[in-house]
Amino acid sequence: MSKKFRKKLKFKPRIKEVEFIRGRIYTHNLIKGNRVYGEKLIENGRLREWVPSRSKIGAAIMRGIKNLGIKKGSKVLYLGAASGTTASHVSDIVGKEGAVFCIDIAYRVVRDLVLVCEKRKNMFPLLADASHPETYKAFFPTVDVVYEDVASKNQAEILIRNCDLFLKPNGWAIIAVKARSIDVTKKPQQVFNEIEKKFKKHFIIIEKTKLEPFEKDHMFYIMKKIN
Ligand SMILES: C[S@@+](CC[C@H](N)C(=O)[O-])C[C@H]1O[C@@H](n2cnc3c(N)ncnc32)[C@H](O)[C@@H]1O
Repeated sequence: MSKKFRKKLKFKPRIKEVEFIRGRIYTHNLIKGNRVYGEKLIENGRLREWVPSRSKIGAAIMRGIKNLGIKKGSKVLYLGAASGTTASHVSDIVGKEGAVFCIDIAYRVVRDLVLVCEKRKNMFPLLADASHPETYKAFFPTVDVVYEDVASKNQAEILIRNCDLFLKPNGWAIIAVKARSIDVTKKPQQVFNEIEKKFKKHFIIIEKTKLEPFEKDHMFYIMKKIN
């Protein structure tokens, strides 16, 4: 993100789980001095920069969301964890009492994810297809938060199915919706309107934000499960 944009940023990060220092956001490093994706470390490695152009949760925080749902001690099911870039910041936030259950379908990225999880004892990797949560039902407990960052046509159905099986009553369902993965022929706003209708049958939308300038045609939803 350019200095010019950072100066112009209308919203200021309001999430107390992150530190906001000179226009950048940081998480408290679970392992002092540990770097996961080449991010900057400050304060003797105690704080790790969360790069919003590399992470949709980071982008949503920079956009000024007020609710994150993820807190110290949270158990999080993370769908589409890739090599663990964002998941590592979630791991920082939930801390030693929390857990991040990381799922990805691609062997290539899970190989790198495993290396991150070996160091971070609150992260647990699984190679699986998030469209079929019944295949991993036995491996994970119920959770406080389900977060999905899977660029696929059936993003809404994946979230709903996983929340049915894993999310506690009143738990948080968070998703970065990529309009172009759902339907390239429709305007992004139309895709968001349609997906919201689906969400509203299962969740209460607490907050939503676009992710520009970090990600184009994405909407980030923070929702609570209807019991
Ligand atoms: C945009 S990347 C995730 C980036 C990651 N969340 C981050 O911020 O560091 C999307 C990931 O979803 C994974 N994916 C796509 N379809 C999936 C599925 N059906 N089940 C699980 N993972 C899937 C891809 O392999 C890819 O790693």
